[in-house]
Amino acid sequence: MFINRTRELSILNQYRESINTGSKINIAIFGLRRIGKTELLLQFKNNTIDRDVLIPYINLQKIIPDIEGFVKAYSKELVYETIKQTEQVDYPYELEDLLILASKLGDMETHHVRTILNILKQQEIAKEEILQLTFAFAQKLAEKHGQKIIFILDEFQELLQVHPRFLQIMRSMTEKQNDVNYWISGSVFSVFDEMLNHKNPFFGQFIRMTLENFDRASTHKLIDSELPFELAGNHKDKIYKFTNGQPYYTVAVCRKISEQYTLDSSISTPQVNYCIMNEIFSDTGSINEHFEYILDVSLAKFKNKDRYKSILFLLSQNPTNLTQVSKHIKKPTGEISNYLKALLKTDLIYRKQGTYHIRDPLFAFWVNNKYLGLSTNIVSEKVAEHLLANLEEKYQKASTELGIAKEYEVKYKLKELYDIDFEKYLKNNIEFHLVGTKDETVYIFEIKWRNKKTSYNDIDNLVQKTNKSEFSTQKRLLFFISKSGYTQSAIELASHNKIALLDGHLEEIKAIRK
Ligand SMILES: Nc1ncnc2c1ncn2[C@@H]1O[C@H](COP(=O)(O)OP(=O)(O)OP(=O)(O)O)[C@@H](O)[C@H]1O
Ligand SMILES: [Mg+2]
Repeated sequence: MFINRTRELSILNQYRESINTGSKINIAIFGLRRIGKTELLLQFKNNTIDRDVLIPYINLQKIIPDIEGFVKAYSKELVYETIKQTEQVDYPYELEDLLILASKLGDMETHHVRTILNILKQQEIAKEEILQLTFAFAQKLAEKHGQKIIFILDEFQELLQVHPRFLQIMRSMTEKQNDVNYWISGSVFSVFDEMLNHKNPFFGQFIRMTLENFDRASTHKLIDSELPFELAGNHKDKIYKFTNGQPYYTVAVCRKISEQYTLDSSISTPQVNYCIMNEIFSDTGSINEHFEYILDVSLAKFKNKDRYKSILFLLSQNPTNLTQVSKHIKKPTGEISNYLKALLKTDLIYRKQGTYHIRDPLFAFWVNNKYLGLSTNIVSEKVAEHLLANLEEKYQKASTELGIAKEYEVKYKLKELYDIDFEKYLKNNIEFHLVGTKDETVYIFEIKWRNKKTSYNDIDNLVQKTNKSEFSTQKRLLFFISKSGYTQSAIELASHNKIALLDGHLEEIKAIRK
C-alpha cells in the first residue's frame, strides 16, 4: 500500500493544475536509491483522473538504453496512453501492434510510426533525426488531441547512454513545446545533478524536488500496512531507528518479521533485533542483497576493485581525509586521489571539507562488518544485540551531518530565492554551512538537519561564531534552517539577534513574541 508523500503529491497535483491552465513545468525528482521515486511517480500517474492531461511513463532502467530502445518505448507509451483514454487495449509490445494502435488514432500517428520504423530498418540509423522526430511527435499529439502531456522519464540519467548529444537534442526540440512537460527522476546523484548543472543544456529548466526518508509517524504507518498483525510501539520505533525511515529497508524488515510471526505467532524484542540484523547481513536478506547490488554497479567500471573496497572499508570505520587514506592504504596521495574522485562519482561517498564520508550510515555499517568477515546467518541473539549497539553509535555520529540530498536542494533553492551563489565556508577554524554575498551584504546560513529541535545553544553558537569571524564588521543577514523546528528560547534569542528562522521547506517561521 502507498504511504506518506502527501506533501509531494499535493505539490505535483498543483503543478499539474498549473500545466492545465497553460504553464509549462518541468520537474526533476532527486532521491537516493530505493527512496520511493518510482512509487511516487506511479502513484501520481495512476491516481490522476484528469482527461486534459496525458501521463506517459517510461522507466529507463527497464528498456535497452540505446536509440532504438528509447524511440520505440517513447512512441509506444504515447500511442498506448492516448488510445487507453477511450478504449481498453493491450500494450503494444510488438511494433506491428503499435502500428495497429496508431492507425486507430489517425494518419498523423500512423505516419509517425511508419517513419520511425523505416529509419530503424536502415543500416545506418539517422540518430539525431530520429530523436528529433520522436520528441516532435509528443507535441503534435498534444495539439491534435487538445491535451497537455506530462511525460515521466524515471531514471533519466540512463539516457546519457543513448546518444552523446542527447541532452542538447532533447533541449533544442522540447524547450519551445508548449504542451509537453517532462518530469524526470534520477538516483545516481552526482550524475543527475551534473546533467542539470550550469555546464549543461538543461540548466535552470527543471524545478527540483528531493525525496527523503520517512519520518517516524509515516514509518509506523508503513509498518502497519506491511504487517498482518499489530506490532508493539517500541518495536516499531526500533525499526524506525535502524532503518532511518528508509522505506525499502523498513519493508524488508517487516517481511522478515512477518515470516517469524508465522512461525511463532508472537514477536519478542530479541526477534525484532534478529530480523533487522538478518535483513542487513544474511545472504538472503533484502538489504544485504541491495547493498551487494549497489556495490557491484558502483564499482562495475573500475579495474582495481579490491583497492576501492579497501578505501570504503577504511571510510566505513571513520570519515577520513586524503592523507590519512593514502597512509593507510600505503599508496601515494596522487593515486589515492584518483580513486576517491572516481568514488565520488558513485553515490557511495561524499566529501565535506576535505573529509570523505560514506553517504548511507547503514551501508557504512554493512561494509564495516562484512569485510570484518561477518556473513551469512546471524544465529546468536547476543551477536545481533552487539551489532545493534554498534549501529546505534554509527547513527549518532552521522545524525549531525547534513544529508547530501538536502545540501544540494538547499543550496539550489537559496540561489533561486536570493539570486546568490552560496558556498560552504571554512576559515580560521570557523565554519558556516552556506555563505553568499550580494549588494555588499553577507548572507550566512546555518542548517540543522536532524530529528531534534534547534536549541538556544545552537542559535547562540551562530551568534558567537559570527562575532568572531571576518563578517563581524560587515553588513550581514543571518538565517537558520532547522528540519525539526526550534525551542521557545531559541526563537526568542533569534528574534533578539535578528536571525531569520526557516523551517525545513525554507519557509520563514514567524517569531513568537511574548
Ligand atoms: N510511498 C511509499 N509507500 C509504501 N512503500 C514505499 C513507498 N515508497 C517506497 N516504498 C517501498 O520502497 C521500495 C522502493 O521504492 P521505489 O522502487 O519507488 O524506489 P526508487 O527510488 O524508485 O528506487 P530505485 O532508485 O531503485 O529506482 C518499494 O518497493 C516499496 O516497498
Ligand atoms: Mg525507481
